[in-house]
Amino acid sequence: MFPETFAETWIDQLSKPGDVVLDPFSGRGTTAFQSMLMGRKPIACDVNDVAYCVTRAKTQAPPLRALRRRLTMLEGDFSRASWSRKAGKMPEFFQYAYHRKTLSQLLYLRNKLKWRASDVDCMIAGLILGALHGETEKSPSYLSNQMPRTISTKPAYSVRFWQKHGFKAPERDAFQLLRKQATFRYESPPPAGDALILHRDMRQLPWISDQLPGPIGLVVTSPPYLDVTNFEEDQWLRLWFLGGPPYPTRGRISRDDRYERPDAYWAFIADMWRMLGALVAKNGHVVIRMGGRGIQPEEMVTKLSASSQFARRPVKLLFQTTSALKGRQTDAFLKGTRGCLSEIDCHFQF
Ligand SMILES: C[S@@+](CC[C@H](N)C(=O)[O-])C[C@H]1O[C@@H](n2cnc3c(N)ncnc32)[C@H](O)[C@@H]1O
Repeated sequence: MFPETFAETWIDQLSKPGDVVLDPFSGRGTTAFQSMLMGRKPIACDVNDVAYCVTRAKTQAPPLRALRRRLTMLEGDFSRASWSRKAGKMPEFFQYAYHRKTLSQLLYLRNKLKWRASDVDCMIAGLILGALHGETEKSPSYLSNQMPRTISTKPAYSVRFWQKHGFKAPERDAFQLLRKQATFRYESPPPAGDALILHRDMRQLPWISDQLPGPIGLVVTSPPYLDVTNFEEDQWLRLWFLGGPPYPTRGRISRDDRYERPDAYWAFIADMWRMLGALVAKNGHVVIRMGGRGIQPEEMVTKLSASSQFARRPVKLLFQTTSALKGRQTDAFLKGTRGCLSEIDCHFQF
């Protein structure tokens, strides 16, 4: 996730109120949310259900009253005994990850929430996703046993870890947490305006260009990093909550898994440029934060610039910064990843 200030700075410099701002790899929806706060019209796209749900919740927040009403209804209809029986049949990982009461509530909510069809349910699902797992030992706002917040660790590894350290899942009440989170999230009013949030592969965007609101003057985005994370596998528990299988998968959501082999990665980035070439307005700006392992930052800038030829329109590189980072949170959980992480920011103009 890039910080809000990153999106804010570039949106402020390169667009004005009313302009359309695109993020084809929206993740947690930072660009879309910031664009709305600044009176721009965001388009956000992501292939991953978690990203889509979170971005929609952030940008299409329902009224707090409607949210509270739905929570009261859901809690009133919850029957602990029948969901507890179902909870008892879940795989071993879940028995260690959650207290039986919490797991029963999660199974019930997973079954009841129509998050694709309803903004209210999408917000509730988004709030659960934010609390589904994390550093429970430090904070009471997570529902799980001790886990990283950023990625869902693999089932067998997690069970070994909990057994070894004697960690027990805390008794947390999902409804209580939802009510607290709702109050907290609405302390500052959600941004007004329209956002177009798309759940699809960014390569399909040119095919629906007639549905997009006007020419795209600015893109602020961050594609998957090279050899750092597989969003599908690393978000498997959140994907489960949204209806996916109760184990990590690869290739179920993304049509490809191109983020490990450099040649395939750069072919994917070429696809991104093809899409941008088809959609970005004349003189439009593109700001990209990108990273990777096992590659020097300078080489990354060179390859990113070279691949812009696939846009089939002249693109100028106006600004770049590079850095080599160590000791990121990913290091602690993805043992065996190579080299330190390079990160670059590049500003291009068509
Ligand atoms: C580095 S993250 C974006 C982080 C984001 N800037 C934020 O602040 O949270 C890259 C995102 O690209 C998405 N993604 C990967 N392949 C995609 C594709 N073919 N089309 C659209 N999104 C894709 C992943 O699901 C992931 O959410």
